[in-house]
Amino acid sequence: MSHNLLQGKKGIIFGALNDQSIAWKVALKCHEQGAGIVLTNAPIALRMGEINKLAEAINAPVIGADVTNLSDINNLIEKSVEHFGGKIDFILHSVGMSMNMRKGNPYTDLNYDFTLKTMDISSISFHKVMQAAYQKDAMNDWGSIAALTYIAAQRVFPDYSEMADAKALLESIARSWGYHFGIKNKVRVNTISQSPTRTTAGGGVKGFDGFMDFAEKMSPLGNADADACADYVVTLFSDLTRYVTMQNLFHDGGYSSTGVTQTVIQQMEKQ
Ligand code: NAI
Repeated sequence: MSHNLLQGKKGIIFGALNDQSIAWKVALKCHEQGAGIVLTNAPIALRMGEINKLAEAINAPVIGADVTNLSDINNLIEKSVEHFGGKIDFILHSVGMSMNMRKGNPYTDLNYDFTLKTMDISSISFHKVMQAAYQKDAMNDWGSIAALTYIAAQRVFPDYSEMADAKALLESIARSWGYHFGIKNKVRVNTISQSPTRTTAGGGVKGFDGFMDFAEKMSPLGNADADACADYVVTLFSDLTRYVTMQNLFHDGGYSSTGVTQTVIQQMEKQ
């Protein structure tokens, strides 16, 4: 249902790989609420071609950018401003990848070249995007920037491995930029800490099904799905949340504040 919450706003959405991606749902909902969008993803993801379906559905151009590559990011920001004929109101960073997880290396046996790559893709890229937008003065006053994160940044989830460290850095970068962008032109920066969600990146975490089931049982409202996450992102890009900044916002059905639930106790007692 559209309330035109983003009427006249323009934004860049990173990370729509397929129709399961959180970014894909965000793009659809932002479009539904009246926003103009530029889609971007890594060249290798673009070659898979799925994103073209989304681009067609929401009438958005696709501009390739490897988030680790500064000249790609600069080009993306410049081309987006050109496309919109003006500055940008919102940016979603929905990008993550662990090289060590992909290679099956446990946290106790990391390959550090891979770790640096993981940090570059999953965390430092957020800094790069904001620095490019800041230096090019590409954001409108009262704009909004958000990135997706996971509670493993605060608590140990062993199989989340080096991504826990990457997310902790990502959340810190959001706070620091929230300060600098707030001072510059009232742009807010937040991270959204989402429930486990069945996507390509999510499925890459070892034992994901058990993980998801546990979170479901530990959340009074149940796990938040990707559609609900997209709804929440829309509110953050709308003018209704102008003074929310430098926060890590849990979107997790209450999981992060729950010690234990009756369902989990009952399950333990059965064993
Ligand atoms: P996804 O696999 O659909 O999205 C990850 C995206 O990162 C893909 O579009 C991929 O192409 C992109 N990407 C990877 N390397 C890149 C590079 N070098 N340059 C540009 N883009 C690159 O999975 P999902 O779950 O939608 O992930 C989106 C965000 O949500 C990630 O930051 C993830 O960590 C976060 N998140 C996911 C949760 C889950 O359970 N799925 C839970 C909490 C947070």
